[in-house]
Amino acid sequence: MAGKKLLVAVVAMLPLSVIADGDAKNGRALSDTCLGCHASENYKNTYPMYKVPKLGGQKEAYIVAALKAYRDGARPHKTMHAQAATLSDQEIADVAAYFATRFDD
Ligand code: HEC
Repeated sequence: MAGKKLLVAVVAMLPLSVIADGDAKNGRALSDTCLGCHASENYKNTYPMYKVPKLGGQKEAYIVAALKAYRDGARPHKTMHAQAATLSDQEIADVAAYFATRFDD
């Protein structure tokens, strides 16, 4: 997907200092809702049926950028906008730190 490539390119250009340190433990506590979709079997929601991207082991900076893009509406997706809209910058850093270290699913 072209949008995804662009996002990765933007993330790659960010100086590391811009990315807040996430607290994976707090991220785990915040991730119960997320796991309902992002850790579902075969990464598909049952109804309506759509594919959900795998987050475990995804790059932290990528997750941060994706969530901020959903929150700001730069990456349009109703469901993920609703999810990201409730998260502060620190909470986004925390869930990103959690998913980046989660390799089992
Ligand atoms: C109701 C199901 C659902 C819930 C709950 C949910 N997501 Fe998502 N998420 C999706 C779907 C579907 C997509 C793909 C959207 C798209 O095509 O852009 C997605 C995309 C993402 C992406 C981008 C992944 C990529 O590969 O580009 C991230 C990051 C993400 N979600 C994080 C989260 C976090 C963190 C939470 C909890 C705060 C969460 N999601 C809650 C369904 C969900």
